Amino acid sequence: TTVRIIGAPTDYGANRRGVDMGPSAIRYGGLADQLGSAGVDVVDAGDLAVPRAEERDPDADAPSAGNAKFLRETADVCRRLADEVGGTLTDGAVPLGLGGDHSIAIGSLVGSARDADVGAVWFDAHADLNTPSTTPSGNVHGMPLAAALGLDEFAGSEWATAPGLSPENVALVGLRSVDEAEVEVIRDRGFAAYTMSDIDERGITDVTEEAMATAGAGVDGVHVSLDLDWLDPKEAPGVGTPVRGGVTYREAHRAMEIVDEADSLRSMELVEVNPTLDQHNETAELATELAASAFGKRVL
Ligand code: ARG
Ligand code: MN
Ligand code: MN
Ligand code: MN
Repeated sequence: TTVRIIGAPTDYGANRRGVDMGPSAIRYGGLADQLGSAGVDVVDAGDLAVPRAEERDPDADAPSAGNAKFLRETADVCRRLADEVGGTLTDGAVPLGLGGDHSIAIGSLVGSARDADVGAVWFDAHADLNTPSTTPSGNVHGMPLAAALGLDEFAGSEWATAPGLSPENVALVGLRSVDEAEVEVIRDRGFAAYTMSDIDERGITDVTEEAMATAGAGVDGVHVSLDLDWLDPKEAPGVGTPVRGGVTYREAHRAMEIVDEADSLRSMELVEVNPTLDQHNETAELATELAASAFGKRVL
């Protein structure tokens, strides 16, 4: 296996600045070495060029974008990321995206679903199912799953929707902060959604196995989106929207081992690492370790 690293240093989609430094922090945290110890070959494609938010008008698209800040910039980055991800898959490698805020998942999903049917497993405290009309914050990092599925304003939007991603193959794991409108979407569309209570009750192994099986049923592969705020803030303090009560270090590794064991991983991303909020780069380092587990690293 060859893993191709693609950095997308955005902070357009988040409420706290600094998440654009995530790709550097994750590389300095030892990503290439960790992946090497998982036994994969590693190629680093570098970072996409991302204009600084300060040079841009967050509301340039308003009112057509509704309440979605920097939507035009997000679209530009996601188009280019989708090309990188799609090209990586065409070359027979596995794309590993580094955020940046979670809005980059729109590009990852569109690229991964290019000429393929894919599922998605969303490891996250949040559902990221808001749309420009339901968002409480205007932050696009709360919308990527809705965008890729073509909900509301995103319907028919070529840069945002991933036609190869079907709702039956979406699973959310670790939910503990879900907005009202998102609860409705989850109920209406019947997504496989596992809250922290489900993890408490059934255990991380059972839940993750079911999520991977659901996402992978009848498709070409699964995109794994790992938002570091999935973990408890005690383990991963360097994130912009921390929520207490997340998964532990051990549960996170176990889940990533199951991702590997499911043998359906098509593409992956590590998002929301914000070095300005981190302690000694530990959240970035944790992200590299979890990626290694997902790509097959074991003690023995
Ligand atoms: N649901 C909230 C919102 O829409 C928070 C989203 C947080 N998303 C994330 N990728 N950290 O603003
Ligand atoms: Mn989140
Ligand atoms: Mn997220
Ligand atoms: Mn393996």
